Amino acid sequence: MKILKLLTTAAVIALAAPVAGAATPNPLAWQNKKLSPDARADLLVRAMTLDEKLLVVTSYYGTQGDWNHYRDPLARRQSAGFVAGVPRLHFAPQWQTDAGSGVATQGVAAPDLQRTALPAGILTASTWNPEMAVRGGAMIGAEARASGFNTMLAGGVDLLREPGNGRNFEYGGEDPLLAGTMVGAITRGIQSNRIITTIKHFAFNDQETRRTTVNILIDEPAARMSDLLAFQIAIEQGNPGAIMCSYNLVNGEWACQNDWLLNKVLKRDWGYKGFVMSDWGGMHDTVKNALNGLDQEAGVQQPADYVYRDKLKAAIADGRVPEKVLDDKVHRIARALIASGAADDVPTADNPIDFAAHEKVSQADAEEGIVLLKNDGHVLPLAGAAKRIAIIGGHADVGVLTGGGSAQVYPRGGSPVTGEGPKQWPGPHVYAPSSPMKALQAERPDARISWASGGDLEKAAATAKDADVAIVFVTQWTAEGMDFPLTLPNEQDALVDAVARANPNTVVVLETGGPVLMPWIDRVKGAVEAWYPGSKGGEAIARILAGKVNPSGHLPVTFGRAATDWPRASIDGANRGEKEVFDVRFSEGAAVGYKWFDKNGTTPLFPFGHGLSYTKFTQGGLKAAAKSGTITASFSVRNAGSVAGKQVAQIYVSPVGGGWEAPKRLGGFAKLDLAPGQSKTATVTVDPRLLGMWDSARPGWKVAGGKYRVTLATSATDPGTSVIVSLPASHLPVGRGAAK
Ligand code: BGC
Repeated sequence: MKILKLLTTAAVIALAAPVAGAATPNPLAWQNKKLSPDARADLLVRAMTLDEKLLVVTSYYGTQGDWNHYRDPLARRQSAGFVAGVPRLHFAPQWQTDAGSGVATQGVAAPDLQRTALPAGILTASTWNPEMAVRGGAMIGAEARASGFNTMLAGGVDLLREPGNGRNFEYGGEDPLLAGTMVGAITRGIQSNRIITTIKHFAFNDQETRRTTVNILIDEPAARMSDLLAFQIAIEQGNPGAIMCSYNLVNGEWACQNDWLLNKVLKRDWGYKGFVMSDWGGMHDTVKNALNGLDQEAGVQQPADYVYRDKLKAAIADGRVPEKVLDDKVHRIARALIASGAADDVPTADNPIDFAAHEKVSQADAEEGIVLLKNDGHVLPLAGAAKRIAIIGGHADVGVLTGGGSAQVYPRGGSPVTGEGPKQWPGPHVYAPSSPMKALQAERPDARISWASGGDLEKAAATAKDADVAIVFVTQWTAEGMDFPLTLPNEQDALVDAVARANPNTVVVLETGGPVLMPWIDRVKGAVEAWYPGSKGGEAIARILAGKVNPSGHLPVTFGRAATDWPRASIDGANRGEKEVFDVRFSEGAAVGYKWFDKNGTTPLFPFGHGLSYTKFTQGGLKAAAKSGTITASFSVRNAGSVAGKQVAQIYVSPVGGGWEAPKRLGGFAKLDLAPGQSKTATVTVDPRLLGMWDSARPGWKVAGGKYRVTLATSATDPGTSVIVSLPASHLPVGRGAAK
């Protein structure tokens, strides 16, 4: 009796329950922390009944509200997904939450989960600082755990091929090295909280219009050298517990039942040991899903819709799917949760959160990722002589914009702007209550700040005229499930023009989800890309404008001058039938972003890698050598100005004789923090895959022997300085030694 009293109720139930796997004498043996995650996952799988295994591979909505869907009572509020646990075996449920900017609120109509909004993923990528991404990831992961979640759906790394893609704000830009490195770093940060996260959307989910029926056509070499390389780098560097397959088709098959993508590329070639979960409702066919690599179906709305559960049970019963295939799925899921620590340290909901500390992390990220695009005549930082400052438009009097859809974080304090944008998901427009205007007034108590909403052009012009400098805020709300024109909405171009005509010292601050067109750029003195800058974005913008912070963000994407600068001037799909599967061919192949612009000799409005500073840097002393089949480059950077600042030095590589998909590729980068007058040296080793071409005949990368140009530059269009290095021919295996 006494002994029994000491046991927890759950343990009593467990001991009393019938032992499932005859080979497993103790069903709780998997809890032995001395064993490897693989060994523990094996024990757990062996102890489970078939029905228990089927529970673990099925996730359904966690969100409450008036949607017509089933919700488990154990699901956590406002969450994306819930997977039942196995109480008998002390295996906890999976509580799944979006997304890359923090703990998101599904169904913005009932925002009762207010959390810290990290800036958009594209802003974090603009920091070019993996350390910053780790810190940001650690912060949102801590909020996820404190809110009771053990699985984040964060880590978007699809390359920016379509400048109008509504989810560009969630991703890491257009370059596989930069996007993979930054998303890998966010992943490490999130998972440092003993939870797992999910790199997504695998793969080529580069447009939102008709995303469930668009069939992306791309040949294997191009695929391996572009989006897939971004995923591969992010996975190697971040070791995510899960990968989310995407809604679209790739080369004729839906991504979540695509044997090539899931079984061959991800699991075989890359040796990926985590699990694949579907995007919400991205399943089509039980047997194909099961055999072609999907481990967990997600986003089931009604029990009758399950692709796994009953249907998989039937397929196992009649032999269409061997039970060992299900065992492998459960093993992968269990292993990920065990290896991360989440299975042993199960999160509880509603723990206190240190919002003040977390908002500082968000602000630091914003301050390092906001990009100073243009600064003629040193209009910024605002000089002491600028005593009358006009702030116009973009709701800058009350807040900063956030991106919509499943990644929507509802920021603490609530949105100061209501009633704008779509009434239904992915709307409405949500602003973080962080006013750039008020923050600027706090920075510059000596200045007279005047305000105009921008709705009335005459008033805006009059306000601008009566000021030493006019700062116009323009916004472009973007969101999941939709794509967007590159022209700013609501005639904001006319607003900028009206202000610029009234005041020669006009600065434009952009809050956009990706590149937009700026027909007025030659008529303004300054431009700042603030993206969606998160919970303290207003403070970050103000401190940059006032010169408290020296901007050091650099573009992770190319800004063109016209939609026709990109491979497709518009996104196909709007006029397609709901169920019509249609092709979009990525004829640019791996020549994405600056590579496409380079190849076509198109001059961008602002190039990839571009970002100005309030100080001046000089870069030099470039040396490069061939070593172990790759190139190592070292160089020095000096702060030649009078204020401290951070420089992003970029190394581009190109074969002297050509032969790549585009003239050059980003081979490495380093962000250096320099006091006035200070010099630092840096060494960058080029990932050898960036020196090769994909070889389908002998899967791997073929590096051609010959001469390579190594360039030290400040952007993709800066000629910089170059040296030539000779490399011997080599061949790199596909998985860089990963298990086959
Ligand atoms: C999105 C995913 C998201 C999921 C759960 C889907 O609509 O594409 O990115 O994680 O919903 O909210």
